[in-house]
Amino acid sequence: MSSPFEFSPVKLVYGGDALGFQAGRTVLAPRVLPGERAEVEEVRRQKGVVHARPLRILEPSRERIEPLCGYFGRCGGCQYQHLPHSAQIAAKTEILRETLRRLGKVTWNEPIPAHFGPAWNYRNQAQLKIGKPSEGPSALGFFEAESNRLIPIDTCPILSPRLNALLAVLHSEPWIGALANGREVELLADDRDAKVMLALTGNWDAQEAETLAHKCLVELAGVSTVAVMHDVGLRVFGEPHLTYEVGGFAYRLSPTAFFQSARFLLSDLVAAVVAADVAADVAPGFSPARADLKVGATSLPADLKVGSTSLGEESGGVAIDLYAGVGLFTLPLARRFQQVIAVEAHPQAAADLAANARTVPGNRIRAVAGTAFDFLRRYAQVNPYLVVMDPPRAGVDAATLKLLVDVRPKRLLYVSCSPPTLARDLGFLLKHGYHLDGLDLFDCFPQTYHIESLARLSPIGRERA
Ligand SMILES: C[S@@+](CC[C@H](N)C(=O)[O-])C[C@H]1O[C@@H](n2cnc3c(N)ncnc32)[C@H](O)[C@@H]1O
Repeated sequence: MSSPFEFSPVKLVYGGDALGFQAGRTVLAPRVLPGERAEVEEVRRQKGVVHARPLRILEPSRERIEPLCGYFGRCGGCQYQHLPHSAQIAAKTEILRETLRRLGKVTWNEPIPAHFGPAWNYRNQAQLKIGKPSEGPSALGFFEAESNRLIPIDTCPILSPRLNALLAVLHSEPWIGALANGREVELLADDRDAKVMLALTGNWDAQEAETLAHKCLVELAGVSTVAVMHDVGLRVFGEPHLTYEVGGFAYRLSPTAFFQSARFLLSDLVAAVVAADVAADVAPGFSPARADLKVGATSLPADLKVGSTSLGEESGGVAIDLYAGVGLFTLPLARRFQQVIAVEAHPQAAADLAANARTVPGNRIRAVAGTAFDFLRRYAQVNPYLVVMDPPRAGVDAATLKLLVDVRPKRLLYVSCSPPTLARDLGFLLKHGYHLDGLDLFDCFPQTYHIESLARLSPIGRERA
């Protein structure tokens, strides 16, 4: 271990660390703010970069505040509790801008409007680990940053009140005993923070799984669904689904299907995606149902029939929601477009998507179970007005992006939870005939380094309505 050294970072970077230089070397350290003087020590060196940990703050920044959570600094969940929320948002905005420039060669000098909600109790989901911490008996908690060392946790101020109440109970000795053969407990609360779907992963036989699931349903307040993933597969007890309402739409959610976790910003995010099409640069009087915006070849091969109606029977604009999940954007998009095609690869989410699509009258939604790539490869002629894509952290793979630019939608909305992959993918789209029209930041994950954003694109030289 090398001796401690003084560190005064120049900026915060994606991942939560502060970056600075010392004796010609690049140094990264968590929980130090730009402009501060801190004493740090090297913990590892990777690709010539020194990763350090703070020992003490010698001269604090005027922005520094006291973290709310006693686990901050040990638990890997939060990185920014020492920074006021407004400063977190300002930092994330600059990190987003810089990541796009550095990794994607995408220069965006326009404002980046920030959408935010309450900075605490905002998560409707928790992924708790069960295991043995370095000292003491088995426990429930989160992992330390960049490790799988467990930190026992009995409260977490970014989780919703309902989830905190459950965390406190599950943390107790009898429950730790009951969960002894488990590895993970996932909690998902509904929009009212009333009902909870609980998913357990562990080594249980069928009888043990059933006994444990019933114990959860009977003894844990609010738990209405229990999914157990064990040696012999997945079994669901109690109510088969959770219902989550956003903006007047009720979404069916099954265990293992993806759903957004920022409960206060969900309707803002949905509204921004659905309304984005009437951005200032669209001609006044725009309405997706207007006859002059009809897309050309909307008819698709008969094998894309869902129910009794084939795609393309109705006239009007077509929107495609790739990476649709259970249909968070799909359902409200159907209010604006004659047809919405929603594509989702995860089988359980795709089943929820199909069920949720059926709740929208008018048969406007076609739910497609499969990958975005397969869909675009087979239906390149669909000619959509709008494509929404909200891929996982890995972003959109190059082959799918190539197909997408051939499809050439007139508007493209990219919802991203990862600035580095957004930068890469925007870099590609901007090289292939698209223009970046707008960029918004959604602070879905206060106290953490995570950045959600929405990029709006359109083809260069497009005809405006
Ligand atoms: C970040 S989530 C977004 C879901 C949805 N838009 C929402 O906001 O709830 C990404 C979704 O893409 C799905 N997915 C992952 N890879 C995919 C692929 N190659 N094609 C289609 N869907 C995919 C995942 O199962 C997940 O539901």
